[in-house]
Amino acid sequence: MQIFHHVTSVREALGKERAAGRTVGFVPTMGNLHQAHIELVKIAQQHCDVVVVSIFVNPLQFGLHEDWDKYPRTYEADIAKLQDASCDYLFYPDEKEIYPNGMAEQTRVVVPTMTDVLCGASRPGHFEGVTTVVSKLFNIVQPDEAVFGIKDFQQLAVIRRMVEDLCIPVKITAGEIFREPDGLAMSSRNSYITPEERPRVSQLNESLNWVREQIEQGNREFLALEAEAVKQIEAAGFKVDYFTISSSRTLQPAAHDDTEITILGAMYTQAARLIDNVSLTLG
Ligand code: PAF
Repeated sequence: MQIFHHVTSVREALGKERAAGRTVGFVPTMGNLHQAHIELVKIAQQHCDVVVVSIFVNPLQFGLHEDWDKYPRTYEADIAKLQDASCDYLFYPDEKEIYPNGMAEQTRVVVPTMTDVLCGASRPGHFEGVTTVVSKLFNIVQPDEAVFGIKDFQQLAVIRRMVEDLCIPVKITAGEIFREPDGLAMSSRNSYITPEERPRVSQLNESLNWVREQIEQGNREFLALEAEAVKQIEAAGFKVDYFTISSSRTLQPAAHDDTEITILGAMYTQAARLIDNVSLTLG
């Protein structure tokens, strides 16, 4: 695996790949790689000739009191995992390389409306940071296809919208959620969960599935279902940030006749904010 730290050098290497007729797949990450990231790499490998992973803990998408400082940085272990997965290129820039004019002076990319709800409501500015860095990474790597995990459902929807609105020539592909045996969605932030909390955190996923089953059985009392799920999660000892039954397309509260529905939840443990979702299609 070739490792690049600079925009010019990664561009040059990938330019040669493209000139040789090879397609480029891209998996942007913030590192602390786990099996779910490797599954995204595998998807990119199935679809493209060469695969680039980026690791950049993007300060622009963290709020003032969020976990940018303590976000797990596991560079050596990440390299080993990518080498095992036969990844071709790693782009590992530092902050100066991505924000040479400083973050305050950085031109921003803003996707309106769908970033005001759910995670966007509790993390103001978060999605602006994501879309800004992802559009920069797209311009640096110039991939044919980029693969994102569906666990960050809203992020995926926002990035799809950005690509559509700005006519960015990148195919966006979604990778399924990879779960621990008890249903907990894999996430770099799972390392913040305490051993005492660990047996209870799968309640978020259990409640999402309970609501999904209820809807599949014909229950359309969405507000009551959301309220019951919140009670279940609180009874397991966690504070709920949001729990909503949404239209998969707009991320607005689902209407009773919507056929593409995603149930999304976010909850706080002592030191982590965990998110998860399940989608369903009604016939
Ligand atoms: O999902 C992530 O890890 C990040 O939000 C991303 C897409 C790499 C942008 O920093």
